[in-house]
Amino acid sequence: MPEPASDTSAESPAGNAPEERTAGSGHASTTGATIELEHLTKRYPGSRDAAVDNVNMEIRAGEIVVFVGPSGCGKSTTLKMINRLIEPTGGRIRIGGEDVTDMDPVKLRRKIGYAIQSSGLFPHMTVAQNIALVPRMTGWPKGRIKARVEEMLDLVGLDPGEFHGRYPRQLSGGQQQRVGVARALAADPPVLLMDEPFGAVDPITRDHLQDELIRLQHELHKTIVFVTHDFDEAIKLGDRIAVLRERSHIAQFDTPEAILTNPADDFVSGFVGAGAALKRLNLTRVRDVEVTEYPTVTVDDPLQEIFNRLRSSGTNEILLLDKRGRPYKWLRRGDLMRARGSLARAGTLVHDTVTLDATLRDALEAVLTDNAGRVAVTGRRGEYIGVVDMETLMNSVHELLEADRLDAMEHQHELEETRAQQTHFEQEGVDTGEAKA
Ligand SMILES: Nc1ncnc2c1ncn2[C@@H]1O[C@H](COP(=O)(O)OP(=O)(O)OP(=O)(O)O)[C@@H](O)[C@H]1O
Ligand SMILES: [Mg+2]
Repeated sequence: MPEPASDTSAESPAGNAPEERTAGSGHASTTGATIELEHLTKRYPGSRDAAVDNVNMEIRAGEIVVFVGPSGCGKSTTLKMINRLIEPTGGRIRIGGEDVTDMDPVKLRRKIGYAIQSSGLFPHMTVAQNIALVPRMTGWPKGRIKARVEEMLDLVGLDPGEFHGRYPRQLSGGQQQRVGVARALAADPPVLLMDEPFGAVDPITRDHLQDELIRLQHELHKTIVFVTHDFDEAIKLGDRIAVLRERSHIAQFDTPEAILTNPADDFVSGFVGAGAALKRLNLTRVRDVEVTEYPTVTVDDPLQEIFNRLRSSGTNEILLLDKRGRPYKWLRRGDLMRARGSLARAGTLVHDTVTLDATLRDALEAVLTDNAGRVAVTGRRGEYIGVVDMETLMNSVHELLEADRLDAMEHQHELEETRAQQTHFEQEGVDTGEAKA
């Protein structure tokens, strides 16, 4: 039985029953299940040390947990034991409360989506055949599979008509990765395992894929275990992060905020790396700050009206939207005159936009590269929603850092108080109860 999504997903209205949530074309979708690892151990034949040694961990239904840690520390081995691609040599795995350690692994894998680096698509199968794989094995009727493939392509932002008949080699790396995610989700499993799924794509595509995963998760509330080397990726995606050291020993398992502001030890600090303050920007999303309205016109508006808006707007600039309502150009006063009334020649193209799920770091970067002093915020289909300006960003950064500073001071204060009390007791010769006879 799938469990209700946990309270970690800020988007889900309180008290919403899982079956009320729907995905894509209105089918009820399965939400996440808890994953419990108990004393989970893997000893490869012929190896002296265990590759994974006695891991205990509870992953809540509906949360994204990210494993980070150095190469060879056992992340992949731990992940693959969850769907038994690797058989544990000790310990138990429970999914949604059910012990699956001895369950038929083939049946188990139908309940668990799995996506890996460079997508792992079968090269001799079309996109549609790849996505249909698990539903077909599970014996879904043809019509339902066909509809599901379309729904999944749509969900990951690929046009079904254009892509379903293509072969993997006819896709870009990012598109292959999207198909990989579509395939992992096709049979609507409660659990999704992802092993460095975005490791092989360029940084910009990776950023988009991360944003899409966050958006998908807002809709689907799966339980996702995600492996990465990249701590920035972990901060961006994780509800909680497990920092692992050798043999998958857990160095710290907590929220990104807690790990950034309060790393458990030097190993974790080393992993967090420099620039913790800037990394904080990865923890706040555009939807959490003020998105303001901005004067806009569209390419279909009569020129006279555009002139009027330019003259009457309080800003020096207005935003020109294309036929589909997407940000197209920043238009300043005088631009149209100089271009002799040609919208095609006037103004500066909008280089970069952000979605509500983008981080403040993305937004800051966009503001700095597009030198408009602000960035346009867009919806799922690229349509204009509003803008975030430099001032809003600066204020948010300032508030974040201030809050962190206060937290740290409070923590310091508590420590000092405890220490002062200790000294006081010692001077008075009181037994603090720490040294037991
Ligand atoms: N089939 C195998 N046989 C023997 N040892 C293995 C096998 N697979 C992995 N190992 C060892 O187990 C340890 C953990 O490997 P694992 O692949 O889980 O690491 P990882 O954390 O995923 O590393 P990376 O970040 O490089 O992907 C390593 O020391 C590795 O050499
Ligand atoms: Mg690995």
